[in-house]
Amino acid sequence: MSAEPSRILIVDDDEAARYVKRRLLQAQGYTVSEASLGRDAVVLAAAEEPHLALLDVKLPDVSGIEVCREIKSRYPQIIVLQTSAAFTGVADRTRALDGGADSYLVEPIEPDELIATVNALLRMRDAEQQAGRITRNLEQLVDERTHELAEANRHLADEIADRRQAEAALWHTQKLDLIGQLTGGIAHDFNNLLMVISGNLELLHEAFDGGAKLPPAEIRQLLGNAEAATEHAAKITQQLLAFARRSTLTEETVCFTDLLADSEGFLRRAAGEAIEFSCACGSGLWHCRVDPVQLEAAVLNLVVNARDAMPRGGKLNIEVINVSLDRTSNEVERGAPIGDYVKIVVSDTGEGMSPDVIERVFEPFFTTKEVGKGSGLGLSQVYGFVKQSGGHILIDSKPGKGTMLSVYLPRSVPLTEPSANADPDPRHAARGSETVLIVDDNEDVREVTAVIVRSLGYEVLTAGDAAEALALLHSPRGIDLLMSDIVMSGGINGFELAKRVHVLSPGLPILLISGYPADRGIEADEFPILRKPYRREQLARYIRAALGDPVVLS
Ligand SMILES: Nc1ncnc2c1ncn2[C@@H]1O[C@H](COP(=O)(O)OP(=O)(O)OP(=O)(O)O)[C@@H](O)[C@H]1O
Ligand SMILES: [Mg+2]
Repeated sequence: MSAEPSRILIVDDDEAARYVKRRLLQAQGYTVSEASLGRDAVVLAAAEEPHLALLDVKLPDVSGIEVCREIKSRYPQIIVLQTSAAFTGVADRTRALDGGADSYLVEPIEPDELIATVNALLRMRDAEQQAGRITRNLEQLVDERTHELAEANRHLADEIADRRQAEAALWHTQKLDLIGQLTGGIAHDFNNLLMVISGNLELLHEAFDGGAKLPPAEIRQLLGNAEAATEHAAKITQQLLAFARRSTLTEETVCFTDLLADSEGFLRRAAGEAIEFSCACGSGLWHCRVDPVQLEAAVLNLVVNARDAMPRGGKLNIEVINVSLDRTSNEVERGAPIGDYVKIVVSDTGEGMSPDVIERVFEPFFTTKEVGKGSGLGLSQVYGFVKQSGGHILIDSKPGKGTMLSVYLPRSVPLTEPSANADPDPRHAARGSETVLIVDDNEDVREVTAVIVRSLGYEVLTAGDAAEALALLHSPRGIDLLMSDIVMSGGINGFELAKRVHVLSPGLPILLISGYPADRGIEADEFPILRKPYRREQLARYIRAALGDPVVLS
């Protein structure tokens, strides 16, 4: 109950009855006002807004039921307790309740009953008001929370958008960093090599220009230096191409048992004496279709890395086994496709790698080694080769706990055995006297190639593009071999030229040359392809092979 006493309006035309009711209610602490007419009751209800109206049904001017309806329609919060004489029928009482009365008492009313009813109705009113307040509070709370949630959602959406933007910016920066690192690395390595080449050539120039007589041994030394630098540069481009998965992989069916038996000694020497080297080959190893040279290079890179991780010695183990990966395999969970593989594991007891290093090891030029100790291309080559061969690679390593690098190469069904009719001594095939048509759109390269081919004893014709070459094909001198660069300007590339020549002169041998042989549409099997940069001796063998001599090309 509120601190202020409840106000009660008594409406009754019987003065004595009003008096009794007033005394009773006042004795209970209520504030009481009175009306004897229906109209006055409505006016008082408006003026005083009582908490409860004790309303007699029979009034002289208007029916109590009408008064009740009026009060309830205007002030629904006022509780109306209708009273009537005992002779009032049930129908009247029902009408009174229909008119909005909250309760009904029949005269004569026992004082206790009246007080109990009034008290109960007022308690009910209080409880209702309290419930109303709670509901309103709750509604307000729900509104506030809903608003807060909507705000939080808006904030979250803004934050997600900001984060996405930041991530995109970070990714962009990282990508630029990586490209910067890559181009910087290439520029650095090539600059050094160009230094060596140009320095040695300059010395030779000076020697010849000044007429100085350099002893042949010194000349050979200068040439040797320049050649070594060229070879190193060629190795770097091969590794970069391997990483870019653009190497020309000369796929062969590789038998690991033979391959490892051949290279074990060499790998053991590469590991060095300070390291305990072991090599375990499972029995009945499957075959794989991979480039054996790249495979050897990859294993060597892994062995060298393991050796470098154990400067004070340790254990290095190479294990080769067959594995079948299915949906339940741990490797498949880590990203390896389901399938049959030959798995090569190179493990060491060296310094291991932190997660940050593991994340970056395949990036070209990423190295933790001192300047001059590592180029950061080793694992890039391994990665590129393995991916290009359809395989997978996994690293397990922890700082101080050693490293285990697992390479998975897909199993292949062995095709035919390697041909046995190759000449065991490739040097027999090196020279010739046939006529070779050299096609290259780069004049310098064309000239160098012509000089080399002539030095091998051949007659040489040259053409700067496919059109010129096609015209020369009908030359009266007769051409025995077409040797063309693949990537050429002028509309028709070397591969298309080769196809046309193959149709025009079906028997004419063709040899294609390329430094970037991953162009679409080149089916490596159709024509032999020699990879740039090549050595003179290698070119000599390819020419003989193209001319039909049995020659070992690898
Ligand atoms: N077995 C290993 N144990 C510990 N760290 C390794 C191992 N293998 C590779 N790493 C880390 O990965 C880095 C990159 O290796 P990667 O072979 O690509 O380049 P590199 O060995 O530094 O140089 P390069 O092989 O070109 O001479 C290494 O510098 C080294 O930090
Ligand atoms: Mg390395």
